This record gives sequence, C-alpha cells and structure tokens, in this order.
Amino acid sequence: MTSLPDRKRLHVITWGCQMNVYDSGRMTDVLAPLGYAPAETPNGADMVILNTCHIRDKAAEKVFSELGRLRRLKEASGGHMILAVAGCVAQAEGAEILARAPYVDIVLGPQTYHRLPEMVARASRAGGAVIETEFPAEDKFDHLPDSTTPQGVTAFLTIQEGCDKFCSFCVVPYTRGAEQSRPAAAILREARHLVAQGAREITLLGQNVNAWHGEAPDGSTWGLGRLLRELANIPNLPRLRYATSHPRDMDDDLIAAHRDIPALMPFLHLPVQSGSDRILEAMNRKHTGTDYRRIVDRLRAARPDLALSSDFIVGHPGETEADFEATMALVRDVNFAQAYSFKYSSRPGTPAAGAPRQVAEPEKDRRLQALQALLREQQASFAQSCVGLTMPVLFTGPGRHPGQVVGRSPFLHPVHLQGHADLIGNEVLVRIVAAHPNSLAGTLVQERLIA
Ligand code: SAH
Ligand code: SF4
Ligand code: F3S
Repeated sequence: MTSLPDRKRLHVITWGCQMNVYDSGRMTDVLAPLGYAPAETPNGADMVILNTCHIRDKAAEKVFSELGRLRRLKEASGGHMILAVAGCVAQAEGAEILARAPYVDIVLGPQTYHRLPEMVARASRAGGAVIETEFPAEDKFDHLPDSTTPQGVTAFLTIQEGCDKFCSFCVVPYTRGAEQSRPAAAILREARHLVAQGAREITLLGQNVNAWHGEAPDGSTWGLGRLLRELANIPNLPRLRYATSHPRDMDDDLIAAHRDIPALMPFLHLPVQSGSDRILEAMNRKHTGTDYRRIVDRLRAARPDLALSSDFIVGHPGETEADFEATMALVRDVNFAQAYSFKYSSRPGTPAAGAPRQVAEPEKDRRLQALQALLREQQASFAQSCVGLTMPVLFTGPGRHPGQVVGRSPFLHPVHLQGHADLIGNEVLVRIVAAHPNSLAGTLVQERLIA
C-alpha cells in the first residue's frame, strides 16, 4: 500500500504576463502529487517559486531584491525551504542567478516545468543547486497533469507558446523559444476539464496566439478561427477570448469568427506598438499603420460592437517627434477602449539595444504622458458610452463591500452590483448605471441566462 505524501506548503509569486499566471497554476498542479498544497504567504512555506518576467528594464534587479527578502525567510526556516526561480529571467540569466544568489535551489526555464518534481528530488537529495534552462526535446504539455486547483469562473488556457517574429525590442523569442502550437485535441480536452471545474469564460493564451496552427483530430491543420468554432460547441462555455494577437496573423477565417461566433467576446487586444511606418519597419513588425487600420475596419465590419485594446512603445531608437505624432494620429483614428503604453526599454541582446539614435529619457517621459492622456480620455469615454446599456455580465466573485458581487462585462470591465452570491458563475443581463475610472456599476434586469 502506498502512503500519501506529507502535506507541504507551496507559495508561488507570479510576475509578468497572463501566460506566467497560467504557468504558475501548472507548476502548482505538477507539484500536487508530491504533497504540495498552495499557501497564501511565503512565511513558513516548504517551497517558494518566484515566476519572473524579463520584458522591461531592471527585471533582473527586481528579481535579486525579491530573492534577498526570500533568503531571510529561508534562513528563518533553518535552510529547509526550497527556493526556485522560474520564468523568463530564469531562462535569460540561468547560472548568473546562482552566482549572485547561491542560496537558490532551482533555476528553471519555462519549457521545463514538467520536470519540476524530479528537480525537487534532486535538490533535496544532493543539497546542490539544479539548473534547467535547455529547451527539451519533449513537449512539456504531454507531461503536465490535468489541473487540480480550479482557476475559477474565468480561466486561462495556453494553446501556443514562443515567438518567431523577432521584433527589434523584444526578449520573448529568446526567453520562450520558437513558436509551438498545441494539438487541437489536447486543447479541447483541457477546455472541457476547465468547464467541468466551473470555468464559464476561457481566454486562450499565446505570445502570438493567432499564429496558432495546430494539428486537428483528423490529421489536418487548423487555424485559430476553426479552433474557436470547435470550442464554442462545448456546453456551458458561454464566453471565449484570446490574447495576445499579432496584426500579421489576423487571417480571413479569424475575422469571420468574430462575425459568426456569439461566444467570442467583442473585445480584442491587438498590439500595434507605433503609428509610424518608419518606426514599424525599424521594429521589424512587418506591417504599416494603414495595414492596421484596414484590419480594424474589417474586424468592425464583422463585429460592429468590437472594442479594441492595444500596446504602444514610445521612444524606440530613431523615433522623432513626427513619428510620435503618427502614433497619436493612429490612436485618434482607431479609438481604443483600453490600452497599455510603455517607454522603450533597452534589452540586452535585442537588435534595438545597439541601434543608433536612442531617445533621451525626458523625451520618452514627455511622449508617454501625452499618449497616456489621450488613451485615458478614450478609455473614459468608452466606459461612459456603456452607461444606459444593457449587457450580459459574467459574475466571478464577491465584491469588496457586503452584499456586492463583481462580474465582467463583454469588454473586460469589472462590473459591481448589489446581488446575491448565487449569481457567481452565471451570465446575467445587467443595466449599466455608472462608469468609474476602472469599473462599471449596474443593476440586474433579468434572472439567470445560463444554468
Ligand atoms: N506578443 C505580444 C507582446 C508581448 S510583450 C505582441 O507581439 O504584441 C507585451 C508588450 O510589452 C509588447 O506589446 C510591447 O508593447 C511591450 N514591450 C516589449 N518589449 C519592450 C521593451 N523592450 N520596451 C518597452 N516595452 C516593451
Ligand atoms: Fe515580442 Fe514581437 Fe514576438 Fe510580440 S511578436 S512576443 S513583441 S517579438
Ligand atoms: Fe514577461 Fe516572459 Fe511574459 S518576459 S511578458 S513573462 S513571456
């Protein structure tokens, strides 16, 4: 008879993108058979994983300062705590992490999470540190168990990983490796499992999610449009989303999917980075501002209520005032419901890092402020335009105040209202009565839409 392993406490700290959030869940799943259960704090934990992001400046410095804090907790545990560094900084820095923080037990890259149990065993046995930052031949998804910790009403599902686009400024192709698409059957299976665990909205994830081209059950190859059509047939899954997309991979079938699939939410995050053709070329984006506007027009023709979100970088090497004005013009033309904007940050090893004509920091600051003021204005006026409308809201949890529940609009706004907790997990028609800077308030107009 096999005895159950001792119960141990695992604390995971997650930085970076949605894929890191998903990965942290999968690392938790893979450690569950060893007796590790999630813990809210690192105090007294048997194992702590720091899941890191390398996308912008000072990423490594932030990791080392957090590790300094965790070192004290490890010492307080008499050295018993296993300390692991995962994610994109682990991939990029590898052995450097152990050189600067010798108290770390495990350094593992994003493609090796399925090997964690074996790494834990090696680290506990040998007492020496373990590094795994190779890109292994086997596919980690074939070796990861089904999730045991439900994600909740809204869930992430990685369908594609890695990037072959090599934008001038970006570390992702180096930290996540080449583009890889999971087979459709594995994705459909995981989606059904998430729904059985209570998910009512699934966001498909990929660094370039619309570059997904996976093996279909009949051996042919599907694109993302086709995959979405299949996912939309899963019972009790009223909502689908996908992120993050690249404009170049927005094909006809995917645009048609926005017209044909009611479950596909009318909100799309489609990063453009810049509105200047010169800078888009320097960024190696392989599309122009006009291409982007055309794609947006076609998407809006397919789904007239589509709200758009984007990412912008100001101050890429070579960006002049005229280039920046072209970005402002594109923002005015498209009108975004929401957006993220960043100052260009030089990343070692990327082509833009060594490029001439770097933009001075105060100039980047000024451009970022001007862009963010315009984006904030558009975001506020979009939220205001929702007031008075009736829309389906998917309730995800209790609100901050007693008697309140919070849900998600089709456009990703948090929506608060006074209501009973049994609304959670249901999609219900709500009338929007007020727009706040980061959320909407509503009242119920109808009982349950779905069981
Ligand atoms: N795969 C996605 C984006 C991944 S990174 C895409 O292609 O759109 C998320 C965002 O971070 C990017 O869209 C970009 O706006 C920003 N970003 C990436 N590298 C950056 C850098 N070196 N400096 C500033 N912002 C950066
Ligand atoms: Fe980075 Fe460009 Fe790939 Fe996006 S498409 S992950 S910005 S290299
Ligand atoms: Fe960061 Fe890696 Fe995601 S660099 S944004 S955690 S892919």
